[in-house]
Amino acid sequence: MFSETAIKELEEIRAKYPTARGALLPAIYIAQREFGHLSSEAYEAVSVALGVPRATVRGVATFYAMYKHKPMGRHIVQLCTNVSCMILGAEKLADFLKSRYGLEPGGITPDGRFSLVIMECIGACGTAPAMLVNDDFYENLTEQYIAEILEKYT
Ligand code: FES
Repeated sequence: MFSETAIKELEEIRAKYPTARGALLPAIYIAQREFGHLSSEAYEAVSVALGVPRATVRGVATFYAMYKHKPMGRHIVQLCTNVSCMILGAEKLADFLKSRYGLEPGGITPDGRFSLVIMECIGACGTAPAMLVNDDFYENLTEQYIAEILEKYT
């Protein structure tokens, strides 16, 4: 079940689209936020909220790689390792995340604090390496800077 806040948010989003299917992407995002990841329960909640078949919800959700289909940490670290970031040391930063935090791509830290997702280019090639933590953007990364950043997320 969605929270009262999410139900209100879904109603506002639904009103912006001529059909319920048009609201699927933001509705799925809300479900992911509410449920932590996209489970059968989350698909069902979106299906009921929008009046769209559950198979349609699942079909749309599984088409996009940026949705989370398994349990994740409380904070999602999304590190870009595409060309510019790779040239400027992103792979070493991924090694740092593994050695310091036990964080591997697709994994969760033992305390459930972080998950790591390796990203394609996030549009910050000029200030690479770059990453997101949840919706927060960081650039010109170094090991020390990453350690400082992650201290902010409990
Ligand atoms: S390659 Fe990493 S931001 Fe573009």
